[in-house]
Amino acid sequence: MATPIIVGNWKMHGLTSEANEIVSELLNYSNNHEIQIKTVLCPPFTQIAALKEKIKGSPFLLGAQDCHPSPQGAHTGDISAPMLKDVGADYVLLGHSERRRDHYETDELICEKAIAAQNSNLVPIVCIGETKEERAAKDHKFVMGIQIKGSLPQDFNGFVAYEPIWAIGTGVSAQKHEIAEIIEFIREELTEQFGERGKKIPILYGGSVKPSNIREILEIEELGGVLVGSVSIMPKDFLQLLEIAHDFIST
Ligand code: 13P
Repeated sequence: MATPIIVGNWKMHGLTSEANEIVSELLNYSNNHEIQIKTVLCPPFTQIAALKEKIKGSPFLLGAQDCHPSPQGAHTGDISAPMLKDVGADYVLLGHSERRRDHYETDELICEKAIAAQNSNLVPIVCIGETKEERAAKDHKFVMGIQIKGSLPQDFNGFVAYEPIWAIGTGVSAQKHEIAEIIEFIREELTEQFGERGKKIPILYGGSVKPSNIREILEIEELGGVLVGSVSIMPKDFLQLLEIAHDFIST
């Protein structure tokens, strides 16, 4: 496995005081320890510019949680990829299940967003995953095959995050063998879709990742890292994830 990537999705959390508190703890740590893990923080839009200033010179990187497919225009309330780049983001989460659910995002739209992200030199992190019902019906691979084919543009140059919806925010992660099986499946699909390039696309796992389970998750072959929700706004626990991930640095 390559050195793991850790992405923190703050979701709709982070008033200025909270964001400052979280980042101060992270910086306090990084000032005293060498961080060799690629660590991406995805705060809400409102905090990106301020955090960019704060993390200057630190190993932390910034991402956003969504972008519009157009670079600008009459789209009230939306934020474009060039705007994200402008305020300091280098990554963007796309197609998170909460956006698919709350904003009826389709694979086609997510694909357009991924193209927009890449056009602005943002790394798209495209999320896929099945519901509890789809898994119970043993349709999960079929569903994810459709998501992979539909959400990733031909020249995709980002990460894929497997987040089973039933493991998000529940405190109960998918089991190691379940994750391993799906990561292998996603790798096959990516290789079929993109050839050699598909073998190198990092695949992350997300869904109740925490200090007590990250080690066994990172042991999974082919896994590129983790996408963390709740624990990403708990700096002490988040830093523990980083510490454990350091044991997996490839030399
Ligand atoms: P939790 O880590 O809170 O389960 O959230 C996962 C997630 O949705 C990250 O994008």
